[in-house]
Amino acid sequence: TDRPRVLSGIQPTAGSFHLGNYLGAVRQWVDLQETHDAFYAVVDLHAITIPQDPKELRASTRLAAAQLLAAGLDPERCTLFVQSHIPEHAQLAWVMNCLTGFGEASRMTQFKDKSARQGAEATTVGLFTYPVLQVADILLYQADSVPVGEDQRQHIELTRDVAERFNSRYGHTFTVPSAHILKETAKIYDLQDPTAKMSKSAASPKGVVSLLDEPKVSAKKIKSAVTDTGTEIRYDEKEKPGISNLLVIYSTLTGTGVPELEQQYAGKGYGALKTDLAEVVAAWVAPFRERTQEYLEDPETLDSVLARGAEKARKVAAETLAAAYDKVGF
Ligand code: ADP
Ligand code: NA
Repeated sequence: TDRPRVLSGIQPTAGSFHLGNYLGAVRQWVDLQETHDAFYAVVDLHAITIPQDPKELRASTRLAAAQLLAAGLDPERCTLFVQSHIPEHAQLAWVMNCLTGFGEASRMTQFKDKSARQGAEATTVGLFTYPVLQVADILLYQADSVPVGEDQRQHIELTRDVAERFNSRYGHTFTVPSAHILKETAKIYDLQDPTAKMSKSAASPKGVVSLLDEPKVSAKKIKSAVTDTGTEIRYDEKEKPGISNLLVIYSTLTGTGVPELEQQYAGKGYGALKTDLAEVVAAWVAPFRERTQEYLEDPETLDSVLARGAEKARKVAAETLAAAYDKVGF
């Protein structure tokens, strides 16, 4: 096709996706499959940068694929695949490792944060080179754009730098991609700490609304969300980060603008907003949970979707890797 190409990925760890994953990334994947030649991967190679139980990893990879289908990815409209099914990712990553500076990689803030939390002895070299594997993931598919959340911006910048470096050293080989980040939902915050992003690896699950949470559980998390000591329901990122985060989630899930919500809740307390948002989330999550369950209960369909995805992805990946190897002198 002559449609522009997109590539993005999501880790299969922690079992369930959270609201940040959906609102920041997966929601735009669903839209982009209508207008783009779209490649989406469950990035299980990335998952083993921290220790994983093999059985659990295998199950959560399938669960991730089921959730992506439940969220609206259509295998007729996009290519959905599992990263480890395509050996070219690791092969191109080696080449890119040899084009990336040690200092350059050392400046990646996600690595600095994660490794600081884990300590030097528990931190793997894989975690350090994770952004370079991501460079390979993106460049293999000659992606024009990469739909992600704000936390990935620096990694996409690295991808651009390394692509340009390869192209200028060896001659034009790779499309230089740009990040595709939704403004309103670029960063959904943790409900317990509205200055930190909602994350699969959060210290406490209380601030993270999983898409597979029972309605009771997500309602409890939303009702105990940390807010300020005021009473006014108003979007103000600086003074009211907690309330602003709730408004953004509410607005995106319902399609009601934030100013309209401010009007609707004028004179009402935070409790009213939280109670209604809990219902909004429960209403969104119920069919999502059901569809995910249906895909999990039909392993043959899931396997065949992923096998077809791998076949389509492999064609593109093999062609790009062959061109890159040739340029390098292999
Ligand atoms: P996590 O960061 O929770 O471990 P991943 O690294 O698998 O999840 O990220 C998958 C996608 O979800 C990425 O595009 C990432 O930018 C996006 N994303 C993750 N957390 C958030 C968030 N809190 N707000 C917006 N987007 C997010
Ligand atoms: Na992330």
